[in-house]
Parts: sequence; structure tokens; C-alpha cells
Amino acid sequence: MNTETGSVPAHVGIIMDGNGRWARGRGMVRTQGHLEGLKAAKRVVKAASDMGISYLTLYTFSTENWKRTAEEVGFIMGLVKQYLRGELDFYRENRVRIRHAGDSEGLPPDIRREIEDACEDTRNFTGMQVILALNYGGRDEIIRAVNRAWMFKSSGSPGGAGNLRLREGDIRQYLDNPDVPDPDLIVRTAGEFRTSNFLLWEGAYAEYYISGKFWPDWTGEDLALALQSYGKRERRFGGIRV
Ligand code: FPP
Repeated sequence: MNTETGSVPAHVGIIMDGNGRWARGRGMVRTQGHLEGLKAAKRVVKAASDMGISYLTLYTFSTENWKRTAEEVGFIMGLVKQYLRGELDFYRENRVRIRHAGDSEGLPPDIRREIEDACEDTRNFTGMQVILALNYGGRDEIIRAVNRAWMFKSSGSPGGAGNLRLREGDIRQYLDNPDVPDPDLIVRTAGEFRTSNFLLWEGAYAEYYISGKFWPDWTGEDLALALQSYGKRERRFGGIRV
């Protein structure tokens, strides 16, 4: 039994994979898979809020996803905009707070503004927090945090940068959302067993759940199954069972 957190994980991260395969399997273009993926995201956000999850991180666009065609990238960015605008009433009604993880400087200016506005509009909401990982890469986040930690620490270090030793807490405080607890559970859909650069630092002790279903087919019931599996895990965080 999971004794650390009870059966409902406080923070769930989801690698929403399989949109392209879902579409191809139906003879559709890949973007159709993303469109259905957006619907799945809406379903799962509502279900997560009902289930009492406090933080939900959705891996929406990685630092590597820029390698896709301009058409596909533009389409996904358009969906992000649509999601942020279309769900505003839902956030307000359910006091859902929107946050961003990733390098906002690398986002197209209109998307950056859109996400900044959504974060600002919802910043005082005390319900579930939905963290959109957008232009996000775990390595990129760590590099940005180390650079900031190094800059701030070396400027105040008596011996200058040469005398500098960074500790875990120095880096952690410069991650994208340092107040958000580490994910307890990371779900990946479409049957792949990879982290794909998602929450590398924060996910050090996350439990993983792999679902064979493609993301557009996901519903609240799939999330319930993931939570059921999580509830049976024994988390030791490197310690031993006592
Ligand atoms: C992975 O499937 C999915 C993405 C890279 C995009 C995720 C975007 C959405 C689900 C829509 C927007 C959602 C929100 C919350 C705004 P893939 O294309 O890599 O699938 P494949 O591996 O089968 O090709």
C-alpha cells in the first residue's frame, strides 16, 4: 500500500503520447490526432479535478518538438491558444490555476502572452493547478536553473565563482515552479517506456504508469486505473521497508 501519500497522488504528470498514431490508424492526418488529443486533455483535467489531484502537469510541447513540420507546430500552438481561451469558464468555476513550465522566451510572442495572461488571471485560484509544460525540456530546465543559481551565488560569494559549490537546494529554487511538489506519479500513454526529457529533476522518485492506449482515447476512467495502480505501490524513496 502506498503509505507516503495515501491513494490519491498530490501531483500527477502526463506524457500525452500517441496522437499521430491514433490519427494514422484511422487514415487521418496527424493534426486530427492532436485535435482529439485536446478533447482528451479537457476530459482528463476535469476528471483529475474531481478526483482531488492537486497538481497536474501536461507535457504539451517539448524543446525537441520544434523538429516537426511548421504546419504541425503551428497547429499545436493554435490548440494551446484554443485550450487557454476555451476553458476559461471551467477554470473560474472550478478555481483551477494555470501555470507554465518551460522556456517562455522561446515561445512565439502571441502564445507567450496568452499563457502569461491565463497564469495571471488564475493566479489566486486555490483549486487544482494545471501546469502546461510548453517548450519544456528537463535538461533545458536544469541548465537554466544552474545558470541562474551560479549567477546569483557567485555574485554574493566571498571567494567569487572559483570558491563556489552548488548544492541541491541552490538548483531546486531556480526550477520553473519551485513551490510545486515533485510528481508522485508520471503517466505515459501509447505504450512507450521512455521519460523523453520530462521532469528529469522533479521526477527522480516518481512512480511510473504506462498505458497502452493512445492519448486521444484517454478518459477519466483511464486516470482512475492509473491512480488505482499507484495506490498499490510501496514508495521507499531509496530507504528500506520498516
Ligand atoms: C504526442 O503525440 C503529442 C504531442 C507532442 C502534442 C500534445 C498536444 C496535445 C494533446 C493537444 C494540446 C493539449 C493541450 C492541453 C493544450 P505524438 O504526435 O508524438 O504521437 P505519435 O508518437 O503517435 O506520433
